[in-house]
Amino acid sequence: MYIKSIELNNFRNYENIRVSFNNKINIFLGNNAQGKTNLLEGIYLNAMARSFKTTKDKELIRFGQEYCKIKTSVIVDDDEQITEIVINSEGKKAVKIDGVKIKKTSELLERVLIIIFSPEDLKIVKDEPEKRRKFIDRELCQIKTGYYNDISNYKKVLKQRNTYLKENVIENSVLDIWDYELAKYGSRIIWIRKKFIKKIDKISREIHDKISGGRENLSLKYEANIKPSKSPEEMEADFYEILKESRGDDIRNKNTGRGPHKDDMKISADQIDLRKFGSQGQQRTAALSIKLSEIKLIEDETGENPILLLDDVLSELDNDRQRYLLNSLGKNQMFITTADISGNVIKSIAEGKVYKIVSGEIDIEI
Ligand SMILES: Nc1ncnc2c1ncn2[C@@H]1O[C@H](COP(=O)(O)OP(=O)(O)O)[C@@H](O)[C@H]1O
Ligand SMILES: [Mg+2]
Repeated sequence: MYIKSIELNNFRNYENIRVSFNNKINIFLGNNAQGKTNLLEGIYLNAMARSFKTTKDKELIRFGQEYCKIKTSVIVDDDEQITEIVINSEGKKAVKIDGVKIKKTSELLERVLIIIFSPEDLKIVKDEPEKRRKFIDRELCQIKTGYYNDISNYKKVLKQRNTYLKENVIENSVLDIWDYELAKYGSRIIWIRKKFIKKIDKISREIHDKISGGRENLSLKYEANIKPSKSPEEMEADFYEILKESRGDDIRNKNTGRGPHKDDMKISADQIDLRKFGSQGQQRTAALSIKLSEIKLIEDETGENPILLLDDVLSELDNDRQRYLLNSLGKNQMFITTADISGNVIKSIAEGKVYKIVSGEIDIEI
């Protein structure tokens, strides 16, 4: 799957442009505030029907204009599809595929898989546990049907239970109901996370071995707040029991202390906890391995090669890592923005195009 071309009308700082892309690597060079991220936002929008920067669609319309339009030609299994999104001054969005209006934006999602890779992702190793949970959940929402529902239901029940725990009079029979629900959704989350981390542990270990030239042994381990049981059924019963046992603490603390909302993933290299003791270089390399394993896993699970958007990631990596990143993913179309790239790194690329962006105008360089 790849994007053949895009047309932007009154989108962000673009007035009216049309660009054709290479089906492998597309590098966009440009100084600050020229429109690099805006272009990636436009590409993302047409696949996901939402921006990665804002939830207010009106902001996407070029200042002083009434509407914006983004149109892309996407090749999926040798078929060309034209997707078009128009956003009007009220922020209303109309989506068409091959000229036919679609009712649910989820229809767009089924067509194109897009992964965005930002400097934030390179911080996943040293960030707080919450960021790693988010990474895991975002990934699982893309590849596991039902996970999105489980996670949003779990969060909803958790919030209600915590609100209830703050009341003056607590009735055990009410907590029983929340506990039952929490254990139902939570146990599925724990079970799916456990299997997921086991998979990316294996994949990222192999990738990391290559990136580090065999020097480091990466390992990812699920640090589950509630230890996974032997089967999903036992998991639910065990979680329910743990909630019962910790009920006294929860009432005293007016908060739910146990459950997958406290999970973490331990990332180590040769038994050293990289979060606490890794150098910045080690942490970034591990993050790159984990991100690349995310892509590989999506490919394994869906049989598709997702399109990758790399926004300002290159400058965070040294030349060797840049070369690895650009050349290890032979089958994926990539859109890369950067202020600068070394001529040697460009030479190492087998197939691609280099563009220059200057205040909302895009020209081909090579
Ligand atoms: N709705 C809009 N209309 C016009 N210009 C916009 C709009 N939204 C953002 N911009 C402009 O786009 C520029 C930032 O573009 P961006 O793609 O983030 O730059 P970069 O090349 O640094 O990634 C800023 O100058 C900003 O003012
Ligand atoms: Mg930018």
